[in-house]
Amino acid sequence: MGTKTRQTRGLFITLEGIEGSGKSTQINHLAKVLSKAGYRVLQTREPGGTATAEAIRHILLTASSQEPVTPQTEALLVFAARCQHVTHLIKPALQNGDIVLCDRFSDSTLAYQGFARGLDLQWLRETNAVATGGLAPDLTLLLDLPVSVGLARRRADRGQQNRLDRETERFHRKVRRGFLALAAEEPGRMKILNANRPAQEIRDELTEIVIGWMAKPPRPSRRRS
Ligand code: TMP
Repeated sequence: MGTKTRQTRGLFITLEGIEGSGKSTQINHLAKVLSKAGYRVLQTREPGGTATAEAIRHILLTASSQEPVTPQTEALLVFAARCQHVTHLIKPALQNGDIVLCDRFSDSTLAYQGFARGLDLQWLRETNAVATGGLAPDLTLLLDLPVSVGLARRRADRGQQNRLDRETERFHRKVRRGFLALAAEEPGRMKILNANRPAQEIRDELTEIVIGWMAKPPRPSRRRS
């Protein structure tokens, strides 16, 4: 079977969720399923995805508490990384008809820097639009679970936690509430999956949602005005 591409334009799918929601496992599986079905898939992540964006990720996740990163600096670094990522990796792949699977994107910025850090949502949306050139996901899968469960998984998974993992439980509860508020605003784009169950069950539901979505007729342009 030859490689399938989406003739008119690619498809941009993002996975979102709090720490320990299991996004990485699920995105790896989804990439395999779609590749096996013959689609050309680009799997990537944020912050990161290009050399410059990965360097910015390193700063974001490891910055020393000796010089606290301000919320504004954090947001601007995220946007700088996103601008590089969208320009050099995501847009070219979509223009090529590929399916782009991205671990986190703009919703994470609204949830972490907006709902949890308290930065102005309107400013974040406007600056994000500059960074992305107006690109928004076609479909977003939100893996939702209680914060206590996610943080416990994260602690068990990794000996070393990054700067954001180490935030308080209260902070992560605000992130979760933020994601759920965003999903309520855009139920057509953002689908909530219960991530507090065995990975196999989540996989099956996630695959079903994506395959079902792809079977629908093409929607109008992904660009927001
Ligand atoms: P992850 O790759 O381990 O999921 O995490 C990257 C971290 O970066 C995570 O703690 C969330 C954070 N982040 C933001 O704060 N804002 C953003 O816009 C993005 C994409 C990630």
